[in-house]
Amino acid sequence: MRVLITDPIADAGIDRLREAGHEAVTAYDIEGDALLEAVSDADALIVRSGTEVDAALFEAAPDLQIVGRAGIGVDNIDIDAATDHGVVVANAPEGNVRAAAEHTVGMAFAAARSIPQAHGRMAGGTWAKGEFLGTELNGKTLGIVGLGRVGQEAAKRLGSLGMELVAYDPYISEERAEQIGAELVDLEECIDRAEFLTVHVPLTDETEGLISDAELAQLEDGYVINVARGGVVDEGALAEAVEDGVVAGAALDVFAEEPLPADSPLRDVEDIVLTPHLGASTAEAQEHVAVATAEQVLAAFAGEP
Ligand code: MLT
Repeated sequence: MRVLITDPIADAGIDRLREAGHEAVTAYDIEGDALLEAVSDADALIVRSGTEVDAALFEAAPDLQIVGRAGIGVDNIDIDAATDHGVVVANAPEGNVRAAAEHTVGMAFAAARSIPQAHGRMAGGTWAKGEFLGTELNGKTLGIVGLGRVGQEAAKRLGSLGMELVAYDPYISEERAEQIGAELVDLEECIDRAEFLTVHVPLTDETEGLISDAELAQLEDGYVINVARGGVVDEGALAEAVEDGVVAGAALDVFAEEPLPADSPLRDVEDIVLTPHLGASTAEAQEHVAVATAEQVLAAFAGEP
């Protein structure tokens, strides 16, 4: 079988496919006609978030059996079109959970202690000790929007740093929330009580713009962290809220448009920390999701669930 891989994945996943006797072909940074041409004789396609898998792609790929997503989010894949063409879509929901949770912790500290800004001053030759007065995570309330796999792992880690945990998630039981030490509340109370607000939800019609002007005003001098999906937090509203001091600061890893446009208002705000979608970018996570995705492809070829 021919497996086309259009976003970089760890070698371990590619090796797994080749060891099983399949042809694994990499073609990164292709789009438009080049992508349609490349996929035309593929039996499987493996992507991360960089490839837009739309209806035209399924039309162009008559042999395609499976699209493997080496990661969690499938918002770059048109699931309805896949279903219409009888193509399985399989993600790798476990492999990068710890990496994303650890990045959330890093972003919380980065925002609370202005670590990137302080580094910037040092790199520029300035000893700006008097410019930065941080805040401790210990004793603060963490509001978690979305208590799924990553939300739970982030909660455990930040809870162990002495944060009090409140969470909003309409799909989880109170018992499960209690097991990880979080009090389940509605969205309004979650934002109201939060001093740090972290979102861990996919981007859907339900979550797009979930955190906007009104919610940021309600957060009152708190911090916003988003290592989940761009578009959940309204970027224009956030830039304005931090600039105006309505919100103390923010740390974002994901954006409504990626790569983040050069003229994004987020880039100009001193108290917003930005990273380029690095939540899953650890050697360990990339190896896990690459192998898990290869296994999904092999299962599909074997007609297994
Ligand atoms: C994911 O959905 O798994 C993450 O956003 C990681 C990624 O693809 O870079």
